[in-house]
Amino acid sequence: MRHLLQQAVDRRQSLPDGETDAFRVFDGAGDGLDGLEIDAFAGRWLVSTRDAAIPGGMLDALRDTGRTLYHKRLDQHQKESPAHLSGPPCTEPFVIRENGLLFEVSFSSGYSQGIFLDQRDNRRWLIDATTPGTTLLNTFAYTGAFSVAAAVPGAITTTLDLSQPYLDWARRNLELNGIDPDGHYFCKGDTFHWLRRFAKQGRRFDTIVLDPPTFSRDRDGRVFRVEKDYGRLAALAERCLAADGTILACTNCRQLDVAGFRRQLSDALPPGFRIEALPMPPDFTGEPYLKSLRLSR
Ligand SMILES: C[S@@+](CC[C@H](N)C(=O)[O-])C[C@H]1O[C@@H](n2cnc3c(N)ncnc32)[C@H](O)[C@@H]1O
Repeated sequence: MRHLLQQAVDRRQSLPDGETDAFRVFDGAGDGLDGLEIDAFAGRWLVSTRDAAIPGGMLDALRDTGRTLYHKRLDQHQKESPAHLSGPPCTEPFVIRENGLLFEVSFSSGYSQGIFLDQRDNRRWLIDATTPGTTLLNTFAYTGAFSVAAAVPGAITTTLDLSQPYLDWARRNLELNGIDPDGHYFCKGDTFHWLRRFAKQGRRFDTIVLDPPTFSRDRDGRVFRVEKDYGRLAALAERCLAADGTILACTNCRQLDVAGFRRQLSDALPPGFRIEALPMPPDFTGEPYLKSLRLSR
């Protein structure tokens, strides 16, 4: 076990660097131990396992690093905050750095920590592709990490999520990066509802990010399932897209492969879109579960 951990760390020699200190240190089968993942958050390590316990030899090797360690059970049904294992506990939120940007992370605010590290390269693309004065619509925005990536190079962002606490977190993330959130828009509510409303109002965005949960229910009880409904979501978003705009469409649904995802979107959208598949960051060496398509006219 010790050698697997060392090998995984050696494989990621280039991380952390001055720009990024949050990344995947160990990625399950990709690093030789299926069912175990380790993410680094500014030096603290979060160990996630499918089984209830961390294998003994690995736990010893992890403790010997002397780091702050937390443990999370990967369980769709019991979504709990990570448990403290060793090292100084993180009782307060803290800040991580990614692509030179700052984000608030918490080990005590629930199952997710405030940023999905598998989206790092997509946020890098957004930073590089954004020009000042353009507009971004970030749907299913969670803590607004995509909004930060677009706002820093000068976009006017609209951050949309069902949850007010996440929208507040998104505001704090903008502030952390020296951006006044009052110069940006925040919409609380259902993405489908807002997309219809924006389309009716003639609102158009240069970039739209779609990264929905695999399953969701709108306020009228209508169910959305990525496997069959993503096309409907993309078609609604297209009605709010500027003439030369780009949609970044993502899903981590393991039941949908990239070919099926691409087919759903090309069937739903008007002809003329160029569709490019984007890879996961290289520290994610295991199953490439995150599918990302960039759709541009
Ligand atoms: C998988 S996270 C999105 C991650 C985010 N795109 C990122 O990269 O940080 C899902 C988010 O969608 C929000 N959500 C779920 N159903 C929604 C809906 N129907 N409309 C708007 N937001 C929704 C949840 O509150 C949660 O913040």
